[in-house]
Amino acid sequence: MIENKEILFTGSDTEGGITSGYHMNDGVALKVPYSFFGSIYDEDEARAVRIAMAQESQTMGPQVALFQKEFAKIFEVKHALAATNCTTAMHAATQAFGIGIGDEVIVTPNTFIATSLVILKEGAKPVYADIDPLTFNIDPKQIEDKITAKTKAIYVVHFAGQMCDMDPIMEIAKRHKLFVMEDCAHAAGSKYKGRPAGSIGDIGCFSFHSLKNITTLGEGGMITTNSDELAEKLQRMRVMSITHWPSSQTSFEFAGYQMEKKSVKDYWLPSHFNVIDDNGKWGCNYRMNESQAAVGRAQLRKLDMLINKRRESSHYLNVGLKNIKGIRGVFEDPNCYHAYHLYTLLIKEDELGASRDEFMRVFTRKKEFRAFCIISQIITLQD
Ligand SMILES: Cc1ncc(COP(=O)(O)O)c(C=O)c1O
Repeated sequence: MIENKEILFTGSDTEGGITSGYHMNDGVALKVPYSFFGSIYDEDEARAVRIAMAQESQTMGPQVALFQKEFAKIFEVKHALAATNCTTAMHAATQAFGIGIGDEVIVTPNTFIATSLVILKEGAKPVYADIDPLTFNIDPKQIEDKITAKTKAIYVVHFAGQMCDMDPIMEIAKRHKLFVMEDCAHAAGSKYKGRPAGSIGDIGCFSFHSLKNITTLGEGGMITTNSDELAEKLQRMRVMSITHWPSSQTSFEFAGYQMEKKSVKDYWLPSHFNVIDDNGKWGCNYRMNESQAAVGRAQLRKLDMLINKRRESSHYLNVGLKNIKGIRGVFEDPNCYHAYHLYTLLIKEDELGASRDEFMRVFTRKKEFRAFCIISQIITLQD
C-alpha cells in the first residue's frame, strides 16, 4: 500500500500551476496563489469516488448518465453531454456547427485562449468584437459591424461569471442566421434574466477544471443544448464519430433461431457501429470517466453553497473598495446573477497614484488581502 507521505506533493511549481506568475513591468515576477475554492471536497466526494471505483464500468457508465441528467435539469436544458474539459467541449461544438476553412466566427477578445483556439483548429478565423468596459463582456453593439458573408457563429464568454447581454445577441444571431455558442467556463451558477448559463445559445460549454465554480477531479467539461439535431452530432464528435446500429439491425439467424434483439443475456453479441464523418468532421475521444462524473454529481449538490460563498466575499470587497479613488470594484448588471468566478478590479492609475503592478505587489503582500485570492485579474483602464 502506498503511504500517504509518498503521494503527497507540496511543491508549488507543478505543471499547470497552483500559482500564477505575473511578469511585472519592473522585470521581477510576482507569484500569486490561485484559489481552489471550487475544489472544496469532503466525505461526499470521497464516497462518490469509492462507489464509482467499485463499479464494473469506469467510463461513460451510470455516473456519467446521471451527472448528465441532473446537470440538464439544473441548467434547464434538454441535453447535457459530459466531456473531458471545456476546450474539447467547444471543439466538438465547433465541429457540430460545421465551421471550417474560410468561415469566420465573432468572438470576445477578453477570454482564455481556448475560445479562439477551437475556431483556429477547424481552419476558421476568429473575428474579435470589443467588450463593454463595464462588464468586460462582448458588447452586442460591436457584433453587427463584424458580420460578413463568411460569418457562421458568435462565440460569447460569460466573463468572470457574469452573463453577456444575451437578448440582443440572440436577436442579431437570429436575424443573420448565425449559431451562438456560450463559453460557460466561468458561469456554472450564473443567470441572465433568471435563465441559467448554457440554456440560451445553441450550445453551452462548461469547465470543471480545479479553478472553476464546480470541479471534477482536476479536469472536466459539459456540453448543453436544446437541439436534438446538435445533440446527435455532438454525441458523435465526442465519441470518435461512432453511431451504434439500431438494435433491430443486429438481428440475425443462428442455428435455426432468429435472434431479434440484443437482450441482457446476449451480452456476448458484438456491438455493431458505423464510423462515418459529419460532412468531413471526424470525432475524437472526449469522454468523461465515472469517478469524475460521480464527483460532479456531489459538486452539483453544493453549487448554490459554493456560489453563495463567492458572492459573499465579492460583496464584501465591493463595499470595502467602493470609496477608494482609482479603483473600481465589480459592476453587477441588474439582469444578471453573478457567480463571481473571478473578482476583477479596474485600476485607473492616474487617480490611484500608483501603477497596476505597484498596486498588485502591495495587495498580494498583505496577508489580510490574500484571504481573498479569488482576485485573479486586475485590469488597467486605457483610454
Ligand atoms: C473562458 C474560458 N474558456 C475555456 C476555458 C478552458 O477550460 P478547460 O480548461 O476546461 O478546457 C477556460 C479555462 O480557464 C476559460 O477561462
